[in-house]
Amino acid sequence: MEAPLTERHAGATRPAACDHKARDTSRREEAKMSEQTGVRADDPYSGRQPTSHERRAGQPWDASYLDGPVPWDVGEPQPSIVRLGGEGAFAGAVLDAGCGTGENALHVASLGLPVLGVDVAETALSIAREKAAGRGIDAEFVVADALHLHRLGRVFETVLDCGLLHTFDSDERRDYVASLASVTARGGHLYVVCFSDVGPGTGPHPIGQEELRAAFARGSGWSVASVGPDRIQTRFDAQDAPAWLAKIERI
Ligand SMILES: C[S@@+](CC[C@H](N)C(=O)[O-])C[C@H]1O[C@@H](n2cnc3c(N)ncnc32)[C@H](O)[C@@H]1O
Repeated sequence: MEAPLTERHAGATRPAACDHKARDTSRREEAKMSEQTGVRADDPYSGRQPTSHERRAGQPWDASYLDGPVPWDVGEPQPSIVRLGGEGAFAGAVLDAGCGTGENALHVASLGLPVLGVDVAETALSIAREKAAGRGIDAEFVVADALHLHRLGRVFETVLDCGLLHTFDSDERRDYVASLASVTARGGHLYVVCFSDVGPGTGPHPIGQEELRAAFARGSGWSVASVGPDRIQTRFDAQDAPAWLAKIERI
């Protein structure tokens, strides 16, 4: 027999009341989280300012990793990084800034060096950790903002940037260069691989050689040792894109 209307109503309203309670509790939890960490639980930027790239894209970096391989993830280390490794360019503790899913960091780690990969995209880092475990390679991957690397409280002899610098606007680049200096030992080296403006087939955010050198100008704590033409492989073009490979010394 059908339940009396009042009971049906009562039955229908009870879960709604529960929903309200649950929502209130979860709002209180969120608020509590903010009190403790200063970060809203639902903040996709985890309390940091979105970068100029993220503002243009209208989404956090992490979102690009949610729908399968990203255009810059070629599933293997960039040839320039493999070449540098073969030349013995990496020494001591190595930082990979903006490591993505970790192919370059894992390659350097496979050479026997201690490597920390940092990125703002937690999804990319999870993939990197899975690859490390699957390949039996010892490498660390943590969430960190490359614009505030001093928060790591660590110092590195070699720093690698493959594809991060060119995503920053000029103000961010100034902060990034200072941030890199704060974690690099004097005499240590930074290797930057970025898109160049020397076409044809330039990638997104191409940088001129003078612009690149200017980012590490006198007073920045860095001295540019060399800048040369190179290539970056991408998934969006069978042809690789023109790049710069820069070697920069922390002074
Ligand atoms: C073009 S991708 C290059 C990824 C990787 N280096 C590679 O070669 O595949 C740039 C990477 O930098 C990361 N990134 C962007 N802004 C960052 C920031 N402020 N701090 C740390 N990582 C950042 C992005 O999440 C992305 O994984």
